Amino acid sequence: MEKVAIIGPIDIVGKNTIKENLSGFECIEITTEDDYAEKLQDVDYAILRTLTLREKALKNTPKLKYIQRWGSGYDSVDIKFAGEHGIPVGVLPGVNSTPVAEYAILLTLATMRHLINVDSDVRAGKGRNDKLLSHSYIVNGKTIGVIGMGKIGQKVAKLFQAFGEKTIYYDAFRQPAEKEKELNITYVDIEKLASQADIISIHVPLLDSTRHMIGKKFLQGMKQNAVIINTSRGGIIDESALYEILKSHKILGAGIDVFEKEPPTKANPLLSLDNIVVSAHCAGNSIDNSVLMGKYCAENILKISKGGLLTKPTLVNEEYLINK
Ligand SMILES: NC(=O)c1ccc[n+]([C@@H]2O[C@H](COP(=O)([O-])OP(=O)(O)OC[C@H]3O[C@@H](n4cnc5c(N)ncnc54)[C@H](O)[C@@H]3O)[C@@H](O)[C@H]2O)c1
Repeated sequence: MEKVAIIGPIDIVGKNTIKENLSGFECIEITTEDDYAEKLQDVDYAILRTLTLREKALKNTPKLKYIQRWGSGYDSVDIKFAGEHGIPVGVLPGVNSTPVAEYAILLTLATMRHLINVDSDVRAGKGRNDKLLSHSYIVNGKTIGVIGMGKIGQKVAKLFQAFGEKTIYYDAFRQPAEKEKELNITYVDIEKLASQADIISIHVPLLDSTRHMIGKKFLQGMKQNAVIINTSRGGIIDESALYEILKSHKILGAGIDVFEKEPPTKANPLLSLDNIVVSAHCAGNSIDNSVLMGKYCAENILKISKGGLLTKPTLVNEEYLINK
């Protein structure tokens, strides 16, 4: 019987969906990388959430036939090493774009209306803080700047349209004219995006080319009452530059779901600021969406098990993949 390792904390609905759809497989769970040496040896398929699968771990996976990421990012996997050892790596393209896009809106509104501070003041019996409310803003009429107009970026652009705003975007690849018309979006370079947008939402993957793409220069180019929202990956924003700009109140605030080091410890200076809404890399998680994610993970494994092949955009290491 082939063996599937569910690696990292996938919620119960997701896990059950995987198990129900892979009834002919033995499913084991791995919750810590300390267990890799013992448990990965005879695993045929891996479904990976939050933990990493890099060269050191992959060297001890002689039977591994496929790595399935639970999500659309794949920076936690050494896709080159996997490919060179005949292991395809797949993602779930777009499957969690709805929860992430909705979360980006949530963080935007919470940041612009200071929801978390308002909540804590009320709980502390302090009532309404008028000083805070004098820095509250609505989305209507603002310019949204989307960085990364892929699956999530496009959903974010669509959702924001309901607020009656203007959307500009920057991406390594410009969308076709029909798409720009359909989404009512205008392409700009990254400097213009920084200087024109009131709300900036980041949706690029973490790659060498995107690491710290939001640094001191970008942040200093932002409007004073602008907010920056990151639901993509920590590492895309230079956190020390973000700390400086927020501390000096040169922008209104930030809504951050992802950190350079996760989970952030209390020592992370960003957590000492009151103009940032923080979250726990959970934009993509919603229990109702887990059924869909579990189903697609199982479908991909079944396909590989039957000798089928995955293709882009599910397959992310085609360029390195050799036949085993
Ligand atoms: N916080 C969460 O829980 C969560 C959940 C899901 C996804 N994510 C993150 O969101 C990211 C985006 O997801 P998606 O499904 O929209 O991906 P996608 O591949 O559909 O879109 C990514 C976009 O980024 C653009 N891009 C890539 N490199 C770039 C560069 N150097 N400069 C400018 N643009 C560049 C691409 O052209 C593409 O349009 C994922 O890579 C993942 O890291 C986070």
